[in-house]
Amino acid sequence: MKIRTEWNRVLTIRNTFPALLFMCLFLFILQNYLDSNVSLFNRMERDYSSKGFNVRYMSNFKEFEEKLSSQNNKNNNIEANITSHANNFTRKLPNAIIIGVKKCGTRALLEYLRLNPNIKAAGPEPHFFDRYYHLGLNWYRQKMPKTHDGQLTIEKTPRYFITKEVPERIYNMSKSIKLILVVRNPVTRAISDFTQAVSKGEYNSNVTFQSKAIRRNGTVNMKWSAVNIGLYVNHLKRWLEYFSMENIHIVDGEKLITNPVQELNAVQDFLEVPREISDNAIYMNASRGFPCILKQNNTPPFKCFRGSKGRHHSYANSNTLTTLHQFYKPYNIKFYQMVDKHFAW
Ligand code: A3P
Repeated sequence: MKIRTEWNRVLTIRNTFPALLFMCLFLFILQNYLDSNVSLFNRMERDYSSKGFNVRYMSNFKEFEEKLSSQNNKNNNIEANITSHANNFTRKLPNAIIIGVKKCGTRALLEYLRLNPNIKAAGPEPHFFDRYYHLGLNWYRQKMPKTHDGQLTIEKTPRYFITKEVPERIYNMSKSIKLILVVRNPVTRAISDFTQAVSKGEYNSNVTFQSKAIRRNGTVNMKWSAVNIGLYVNHLKRWLEYFSMENIHIVDGEKLITNPVQELNAVQDFLEVPREISDNAIYMNASRGFPCILKQNNTPPFKCFRGSKGRHHSYANSNTLTTLHQFYKPYNIKFYQMVDKHFAW
């Protein structure tokens, strides 16, 4: 009897074993399925939260998925736009160069031109064509700002104007490049140049402008760079071996101070960009004695050029000034003829 009861129990266990096994298997699969969905949800939740959504307010998975997918689409579109924009947003060789002249207002001109959104300017002077030519055009390109198609790239390096090799080198890069030359009275320019050299410690304090500019025999020391740079006609002659005056625009450095917007209109026309620098973008700052750039939403709401721009000039006696004016006169006249423009120097 006892043996029979035991045998019946064994039979019961044997019959229910497959069902138990099936149940275990089912539970195992179910758990895995739920786990995978939970981790998917967690991943999506993290993803979604990182996009700035509060997932606690999502009523169900479907809404969550829909929002995520629409957000992803939006992001993909933005990314596509950024990528296509970035593709066109590249560093290009300049379309225009301010080639000089040193101490005639080249920095002010470049900074003013930045006010036109069609123009992008390299910040520091690249000195490619005079100093770093051996580094190649790719090096030069890296010094340029990134521009969209249609924006113009410009740089300024005043030493180009007086460096013999530069016109040919620029010509080899681009025959149609636009060149801008800022000039001012060469006597004032020479004093400005000397003032700068003194402030940089290039001369002892006992060296005077007169002692550098005028030789003992009373003639002008035209080898002195501060004087020589002002012989505009001699330097420009070398440029005209490669470029015509159609490539070159002359800016009046004195008018750039007294009427900057008028000078800038002419430069923008020459560069063939719309005139976008308005009259009230630049104003004469009485305490500075020079024009400053108005910067709305800025503290202070204007930008003046400091330090090396607009210095008090070193003293030069009237005899020296007269001698220099006489010396420059014939060169100036030839220069006016060359550029077909008159200045009151
Ligand atoms: P000074 O310091 O002799 O006055 P560059 O930038 O080519 O070195 O030229 C410097 C000259 O730019 C200055 O010479 C100054 O006369 C002139 N300049 C023109 N606009 C100016 C401005 N808005 N602020 C200061 N200097 C300006």
